[in-house]
Amino acid sequence: MRQKLAAGNWKMNGTGAALSEISTLAALTPAPKSEILICPPSPLIHRAADISAASAIQIGGQDCHAAHAGAHTGDVSAEMLLDAGARYVILGHSERRTDYGETDAVVRDKTEAAIDAGLTAIVCVGETLDQREGGATLDIIAGQLAGSVPAGVTGETLVIAYEPVWAIGTGLVPSLGQIGEVHDFMREKLEARFGAEIGDAIRLLYGGSVKGSNAANIFAVSNVDGALVGGASLKAADFAPIIQALD
Ligand code: G3P
Repeated sequence: MRQKLAAGNWKMNGTGAALSEISTLAALTPAPKSEILICPPSPLIHRAADISAASAIQIGGQDCHAAHAGAHTGDVSAEMLLDAGARYVILGHSERRTDYGETDAVVRDKTEAAIDAGLTAIVCVGETLDQREGGATLDIIAGQLAGSVPAGVTGETLVIAYEPVWAIGTGLVPSLGQIGEVHDFMREKLEARFGAEIGDAIRLLYGGSVKGSNAANIFAVSNVDGALVGGASLKAADFAPIIQALD
């Protein structure tokens, strides 16, 4: 039985003042059945981890370098995230694939580094609107999964987030049928590659304009084990109803 996961990606939003949202969220969701994760910007991770320590909320990073240490000015290693209190890291988000030209091979190397360090990697995949309209969605997802996910993963070390690029921050959401089609497809691909037991244990999140008002319907779709939430994770009052819909 896969444990549900409600993950918030704060992206490049928030300074120290935003950390009060974490204690507010803990108070609004005192005994969640689902796992709750907040991924703040790197400079806030340490303080976020301290604030959330007494609650059920876990903390994650939004990226890491593929190397463990060295001459990489401005970068952060997986070990540093772990040391700061993170337990997860988001990798291959479409914003990083676009802004930094991260390829599947780069994402795979980062995923390996994250897992080596002891983090759980949340690897993001998703098609653009052109790709969807051109009927290429499943091919794109298959290629990203094959290229971005390294060998040797397990249900503890890997989570996949399906984030259609055109649904991120736009208010557009695929139909429930479209979400189900991709999630069922990802489950089949993971089972085919890693075997039924591991393939079945890997959690599959949906991400892209998830809100309190659409969360319950999305969570009822087969093989949706939770959500990776951007805008609606910034305020505890917006994120709490999503967590409640998952519970
Ligand atoms: O990683 C989460 C994300 O890309 C979705 O963002 O704002 O559409 O929930 P948003």
